[in-house]
Formats: sequence, C-alpha cells, structure tokens
Amino acid sequence: MRIEPVPALVAHLAVPGDKSISHRAVLIGAVCEGETRISGFGRSGDTEATMAAVRALGVEVVEEDIDVLRVLGVGLQGLRQPDAPIDCGNAGTLMRLIAGLLAGGEGRFELIGDESLSVRPMERVAEPLRRMGAHVETTDGHAPLVIEGAVLQAIDYELPVASAQVKSAVLLAGLCAEGVTTVVEPMPTRDHTERLLERAGARVTRRPTSVTVEQTTRLELSELEIPGDISSAAPFLVAAAIVPGSAVTVHGLGLNPRRAGLLSILERMGAKIAIYNRRPIGGEPAGDVELRASELVGATVSADEVPTLVDELPLLAVAACHARGDTVVHGASELRYKESDRLEAIVEELRRIGGHVRSTSDGFRIKGVPARLRGGVVDSRGDHRLAMLGAVAGVASREGVELRDAEAVETSFPGFYDVLGQIAPGAVHYPAAS
Ligand code: S3P
Repeated sequence: MRIEPVPALVAHLAVPGDKSISHRAVLIGAVCEGETRISGFGRSGDTEATMAAVRALGVEVVEEDIDVLRVLGVGLQGLRQPDAPIDCGNAGTLMRLIAGLLAGGEGRFELIGDESLSVRPMERVAEPLRRMGAHVETTDGHAPLVIEGAVLQAIDYELPVASAQVKSAVLLAGLCAEGVTTVVEPMPTRDHTERLLERAGARVTRRPTSVTVEQTTRLELSELEIPGDISSAAPFLVAAAIVPGSAVTVHGLGLNPRRAGLLSILERMGAKIAIYNRRPIGGEPAGDVELRASELVGATVSADEVPTLVDELPLLAVAACHARGDTVVHGASELRYKESDRLEAIVEELRRIGGHVRSTSDGFRIKGVPARLRGGVVDSRGDHRLAMLGAVAGVASREGVELRDAEAVETSFPGFYDVLGQIAPGAVHYPAAS
C-alpha cells in the first residue's frame, strides 16, 4: 500500500471502542450472572478472538450490531472445557487474561496463538498463578499454555514488570481464590480490569500502586458502554500535530489518566490540545479531544510515564522526528516483548525514511528536525502499531511511504485506512487487486 503526503488533515471523527476494555467486557461478561449488553464494542481481529474464545467455553454471544454484543454470562464457575485448543490469535491481552480466568475453573484448557504471540513471554502470568495453586504449563516460557483448573488461594503479589495484563490475570484468578488477593505495581498501569470488576459488584480496593480483590461468588454487569480507543485515535492525533494546518477532533474518546500519556507528552512538546465535553463513559473518564498543528519541540519521557502511552510510543517517535531538538524515552525495554520487537523496529524503520533515531539501553533517542521526514519503505513486520507508524509517517513525509504488510492494522482497527483516506483525501492508495 502507498501512503502519500497530504497538505493538512481537518476532520471530526470517532474511533472504535477501546480494545483493552472490549476484551475485558467480553471476558468478565462471560462469567457474570445473566446478560451483559455491550455497546461501543471495538471489533477487531484481537477482540473477535476473545468472542470466539468465550464461545468455545460455552458462552453465548449475540451480535446485535457490529459494535453491540450481548454476552450471556454463565457465572464464575460456569465455563466448560472445550474439545479443542483456544486460539488467541495475535492477542496477548486475551491469552494472559483468560489464563487468570481459567486458573480457578474446572477442566483442562489449552491456549495457543499465532507465530508472534507464541514467542512472547508467558511465564510472567504462569508464575503468579502457580503461586495461587493453579496448574499452568508453558512451552519453554511461551504458548502453548496448558491450564488445569484448581482450588486457588489468594496471594500478595509484587509485579516484577509493570504489566496491566499480568495484574489483570492475577486479579481475575483472585475472584475465585480463597482470601484477599493483592497486586503491587512498580508503576501504575491501566486499571480497566479493576474498574470493570468494581462495576460488576466485586469488592475491589484501588490504591495508587496496588489493588486488592476479594473472593466473589457473583458478578453482574448488565449494561456497558465502551469509550473510543485512544490507541486507535493516536495516529490521527499525531498526524494532526505534525502536518501544518491540521485540526482534528476525536469524539467520545477514553481519557483514563493511565492511558492518556500521549496527550500529556504531546502537550509538553507544544501541541495545541483542547478537551471538550468531559464525561464518564462506562465508568471511564472520556471526552472530545481537539488537536491543532503547531511547532513541536523535543521532550523527555520518564520510565514511570511509559505505561501511560506504551502502545503509542511508535507514534510518539514519528512526532519526535518532526520536533525541534532531542526526544529521549527512558524505561521502555518492555517494547521488545510486544507484537514485534518494537524498540528495534522504531529505530530501524524510522531511520530508513530519514529519521535520526538510535536505541539506548532502555529506550530510544531521537534528534528532531522540524521538517518533513523524507519517506521511503516502512515494513510493519506484522505489527499493527508499526503499520500505524508507517501510515502517519507517510502522510507527514515529503515523498510518501510504501507500507509493507499494511493489513496488520486489522488486529486492532480494521477500518483504519478508510478513516485515514476520508480525513486525508488522496493519502491512501490500495494495491491493485491481483
Ligand atoms: C494491555 C496492556 C499492555 C499493552 C497491551 C494491552 C492490556 O501490555 O501494551 O497492548 O489490555 O492490559 P502489558 O500489560 O504487557 O504492558
């Protein structure tokens, strides 16, 4: 696919529902009593894998519309052993969270994933679940994972890495564990699981760096609206920040402070951001975000800020290439374990199109030049966030970007190029059908 430069992006838009919350809504809805009606569901390759997973476990999911689901919960002990492995596809969130949910269930469950998911670290969830009494086997630390449901005991667990997925796995297992389960975080990570469990009636205590959940017999959600995904809005916001004359407003966007770090950092770099109509959506802070292009300067991102924009760092790197001066990102080693080695990819792909980027021991450093990137070839390496990097670099570049493996965006945002084509007319050129 070719992405051509555009003069400016001027648009109002909405993006699909938050992927992290969509996974959680289906998984928690599956173990609720009765029906959960989810609106604003963010349908994508990843979240469809979650729908398929709970269906395989005996849960009925009715698709009322593309973004409206009814999940007919079977209760905390109601999931049934499927007769085939559960395929988590590319979705790390699904594999790690469902491991926690199944650990206290009845039966034997095998979790498999695609090539990328099968090389991502899984001992990080297996280890705390074993401490709770679960039977979890990994394959040399990776998927396939085999879980045999067991009677669980609550634990106090200090996370060795800041990971919302691992925290969530322990909390979900904690629902069925005897006693009170506490997870201590080295840095605050996204708290969607805690918020949803609280909403579903679990006894949850949230503190700045720890969270506690008590054993529960019954959860009930009934209705849930999901706000727009800031990770899916990020490409349009970053493009608007760096393409002169742009003004983009994204409506109904989730603005959880543990997710919205991109906005704070862009603001620090000099971006003009305004937030209107602040309101809660489904128990999450949300609002309409307007971003207008301006001259940017480099910024330093500290390790404790990284979890608040971990998935947006590839896009922040594109903004940093267009800003005046240095941008340094610390404490981002976790990027190596995402859908690809994103640290290596950010450095290599941006260098190929004219960026002055180098890796550091735990992140990257960019020498920004307030001029358009040259352009050239960007390879997504099958990673949706890198495809978005290539697309944004393309619209902001001088010569355009030849984007390889562009369809990787399907993982989180299947309509991405259509939306981009609408708000940046002339930017998106699909390859001729063969
Ligand atoms: C996610 C947590 C983050 C993030 C991922 C989604 C979640 O991963 O990168 O895309 O939904 O909990 P880690 O928990 O591995 O940091």
